[in-house]
Amino acid sequence: MSQSLATVSYLGAAILFILSLGGLSNPETSRRGNLFGIIGMALAVLATVFGPRVGPSGMAWIVGALVIGGGIGLYAAKVVKMTQMPELVALMHSLVGLAACLVGFASYVDTSTPLQGAEKAIHEVEIYVGILIGAVTFSGSLIAFGKLNGRIGGKPLLLPGRHWLNLVALLVVIWFGREFLRAETIEQGMLPLIVMTVIALLFGIHMVMAIGGADMPVVVSMLNSYSGWAAAATGFMLSNDLLIVTGALVGSSGAILSYIMCNAMNRNFISVIAGGFGSGAPAKKADGAAAEPQGEVTPVSAAETAEMLRDAKSVIIVPGYGMAVAQAQHTVNEITRTLRDKGVSVRFAIHPVAGRMPGHMNVLLAEAKVPYDIVMEMDEINEDFPEADVAMVIGANDIVNPAAQDDPSSPIAGMPVLEVWKGKQSIVMKRSMASGYAGVDNPLFYKDNNRMLFGDAKKMLDEVLTALKS
Ligand code: TAP
Repeated sequence: MSQSLATVSYLGAAILFILSLGGLSNPETSRRGNLFGIIGMALAVLATVFGPRVGPSGMAWIVGALVIGGGIGLYAAKVVKMTQMPELVALMHSLVGLAACLVGFASYVDTSTPLQGAEKAIHEVEIYVGILIGAVTFSGSLIAFGKLNGRIGGKPLLLPGRHWLNLVALLVVIWFGREFLRAETIEQGMLPLIVMTVIALLFGIHMVMAIGGADMPVVVSMLNSYSGWAAAATGFMLSNDLLIVTGALVGSSGAILSYIMCNAMNRNFISVIAGGFGSGAPAKKADGAAAEPQGEVTPVSAAETAEMLRDAKSVIIVPGYGMAVAQAQHTVNEITRTLRDKGVSVRFAIHPVAGRMPGHMNVLLAEAKVPYDIVMEMDEINEDFPEADVAMVIGANDIVNPAAQDDPSSPIAGMPVLEVWKGKQSIVMKRSMASGYAGVDNPLFYKDNNRMLFGDAKKMLDEVLTALKS
């Protein structure tokens, strides 16, 4: 393949990646967005493999790596559970970081195209910065993986004077950077490069160890952003324009997502990065018990729930983590269809951090074939609760907690929530009075207009559906 054809293919791939990101921002267009991404990536790989920079001797390596890497990826994608997705993503980010480090060292020792003067200095800066970002991403993502799957405790590790430690590490890295650029031979440059890599690895470990379990979702998306910048740095080292563009797209979209998640969880972005936040369960007692219930609740049966739904004109359903655990989305769809056939208006209210990962609820509802046009974002529907005859909460807790608005001392004070209690009637479906992820009691349960439907979401919804159809 000629250089110009490879360049055109890269341009096409870059456009497809941008279209892919655009498509992924909306459930209705997300499949198309995914397809654009797949085609773009296939085009990018083919243009690289058959491009002018890969000789026949490199082909065997590439095919071998594609088969092994593709096989592992296919297997992982097939066996991973939806709730384990964040840890898989963290592990994948670590590989991007590792790749950036290896490419950095390889391009430093590669003497096939000798560079001089400013060109040499620029290339060395690219190598130094690329390895730095790659090493932080690599070790930080491994720690995030360990924290997410529970092998490492969720409590933040707060070393005394940790900000000073980080500052000293930064100064040492800058000083060794100077030594690296002054080195006249590869052997002389190797020592500063290795020292910086070790410091960057330790910094990545320290940074993520200092962040508590509750903030891990933000950290994963932040590491996603880092992995993008690591890829962009690799693109500079290899003079590969597509890698630079793709890395920048991933880097900036990851940073935007981190910011959105911080807002939705009422966390300050800088505080999350600085660490020491989100110990995992702020309101839980030392023995792990949930917050004490604060009043009387009114239970309701599945048959009564069905009756309320049947009599309603307008129903808003709020799904949460419990719906995902119970895998109740298909029954939810069946109930929705049955109610809509009876002329009841049914809409879904989706909180940005409902469940355990961004878009968790949207993915489940799309899988169950709930029509996209009745699935609303929090901002689109929050004002409509007063007109809803029934607001039905399925396995959600923190995201519908009025304490976020009413109680400034609550650990979730200030977090935007779905105002379910403003509905004419609300029904909360969960198995017990246990608290949610944040470990705080929920005053919604004790409101006069609220009823509790206790039980596993799938089991209870099956009963509601049977009662609705009878
Ligand atoms: P939670 O506040 O965690 O509440 C889920 C509720 O579901 C629990 O109270 C639980 O009560 C109930 N439940 C569990 N299994 C159930 C089952 N089989 N059937 C019925 N109910 C079941 O979830 P949420 O309201 O979706 O809020 C999400 C929380 O997770 C927020 O605090 C958010 O900050 C945090 N978080 C979000 C993310 C992202 S990015 N989405 C990532 C990490 C953390 P019972 O035990 O009584 O059944």
